[in-house]
Amino acid sequence: MSEMERTLTIVKPDSVRGNVANEVLGFFERAGLRIVALKMVWLSKEQAEGFYVVHKERPFYSSLCEFMSSGPSIVAVLEGDDAIARVRTIMGATNPADALAGTIRRKLASSIQENAVHGSDSPASAEYEIGFFFSKSEIIQTERKQ
Ligand code: CDP
Ligand code: MG
Repeated sequence: MSEMERTLTIVKPDSVRGNVANEVLGFFERAGLRIVALKMVWLSKEQAEGFYVVHKERPFYSSLCEFMSSGPSIVAVLEGDDAIARVRTIMGATNPADALAGTIRRKLASSIQENAVHGSDSPASAEYEIGFFFSKSEIIQTERKQ
């Protein structure tokens, strides 16, 4: 049984800079995922460090946080059946050289670091990452009645 989930995506600074933010979001919309929260942010280095704290021991942490604070990003909450895993599949592998044809990263990523898009990798990270950017009142309640 599939389950209704919410996940966080980031249209990373390389995509916004390259005017392909609409393409990144289009991949998700065409797959039937619903955008239930959306905003543009320009992360500080400190905010990027907080968002990626799980990677703080990795050799790429500092340059990743530089990149993520190098310009504006678009952050969004996506909702749908199995949204967390489906977003990861639609994104493709971290390294665009390994990403399958038809994925966002295969089409739009330029390197393992500047790889166009982020998606939460588990229910626990989705909860942390959604809460990092959005308060409850900023997320659309799809079951709302008029
Ligand atoms: O984004 P994803 O979950 O696919 O990959 P990750 O292993 O969680 O790494 C987070 C981000 O760090 C990647 O999306 C890349 O932007 C960056 N990274 C990097 O700069 N160099 C690496 N060798 C691996 C990841
Ligand atoms: Mg990850």
